[in-house]
Amino acid sequence: MASQQGSKILIDALSSGNQMVLLDILCHPLWALSTAVLALVVRLQRRGRWDPLACTVRLNGKTAIVTGANTGIGKFIAMDFARRGARVILACRSEARGMGALNEIREKTGNSDVHLRLVDLSSLDSVRAFAQRIVEEENALHILVNNAAVSGLPRQITKEGFEMSFATNHLGPFLLTNLLLDLMKRSAPARIVTLSSVNHMKGQVDFSHFHGENLTYHMDNVYNHTKLHNIICTNELAHRLEGTGVTANSVHPGIVMTEVLRNYPFRIRFVFNIIGFFFFKSPEEGAVSSLYCAVAEETEGITGKYFDSDCSLVLPSALARDTALAVKDFELCERLTSKL
Ligand SMILES: NC(=O)c1ccc[n+]([C@@H]2O[C@H](COP(=O)([O-])OP(=O)(O)OC[C@H]3O[C@@H](n4cnc5c(N)ncnc54)[C@H](OP(=O)(O)O)[C@@H]3O)[C@@H](O)[C@H]2O)c1
Repeated sequence: MASQQGSKILIDALSSGNQMVLLDILCHPLWALSTAVLALVVRLQRRGRWDPLACTVRLNGKTAIVTGANTGIGKFIAMDFARRGARVILACRSEARGMGALNEIREKTGNSDVHLRLVDLSSLDSVRAFAQRIVEEENALHILVNNAAVSGLPRQITKEGFEMSFATNHLGPFLLTNLLLDLMKRSAPARIVTLSSVNHMKGQVDFSHFHGENLTYHMDNVYNHTKLHNIICTNELAHRLEGTGVTANSVHPGIVMTEVLRNYPFRIRFVFNIIGFFFFKSPEEGAVSSLYCAVAEETEGITGKYFDSDCSLVLPSALARDTALAVKDFELCERLTSKL
């Protein structure tokens, strides 16, 4: 009945050609009602099929590292680990922002075994220093969550000669993971979770991108490529880790209201925030698929897979499943991140 009424108003407006009538339609209570209903449906659907609060897994005696844990999804992943009793290391690039999150997580969870270690993932030297400290200080590492990433950066080349988004989102986390592997193998069972994105589907592989060549800086183009490399190399890593007790998976967290668009123009952030207010996930909800992968009993032993934001296992893009490409990509990243 309501939809029939809506179509009639639309037809009337189009036939009269009167723009004011079109405005009337947009201001019609039906729009408000349908938006509210749609927002409710989306909100109910985005709950996912796994509830971290109902999961009783404890992490006492376990150590977890979360990169980019001072805000957004990473902070809620770290908060959950702390609540489960883990020793949690927040791997952040800013001491001030990292300390803010550290204090909040300690206060809200009552877990004082939460620590801040500084790392700038865009710098391989910083990643090496961070990993060395972890290896020296920690007896074990059971969970590594590669969460930190940037999007929408303009073209910049790091002092090590890499494109900034590629260095931050892929090469830094790639090196970090490899440098921590021996510790994780000694701590097995252990899990590596890398936050990718459904946007990897729009990504392409061109090895000249790593040095900032042949890239188009429009919207999230560069980000999409980096998120594709995340999955490709995670799959190859999982293959190489077979039989070690260390698993490696990628996840899409969903579309989440965080600071991820901080480098985009104001108008884009404005639209994202307006739409997001109704339809997107909160950072806490965005943490769920990563937590499912990192702690749930159901995902024990699963490796080399890609989890969707509702925690279901889905196939990533064809490029992400190309095993020959994965070997080439992994070997190239090993060469690029090796110290000459
Ligand atoms: N939000 C979404 O809709 C969405 C969708 C799909 C996938 N994801 C993925 O989810 C993950 C988390 O995203 P988010 O939305 O929570 O983003 P966010 O709010 O922007 O948080 C990103 C985190 O990464 C850190 N970071 C950035 N560059 C770094 C560097 N060079 N070294 C160390 N840390 C660095 C940031 O630290 P500072 O605060 O110091 O900058 C921040 O803690 C990312 O991998 C993203 O690709 C997000």
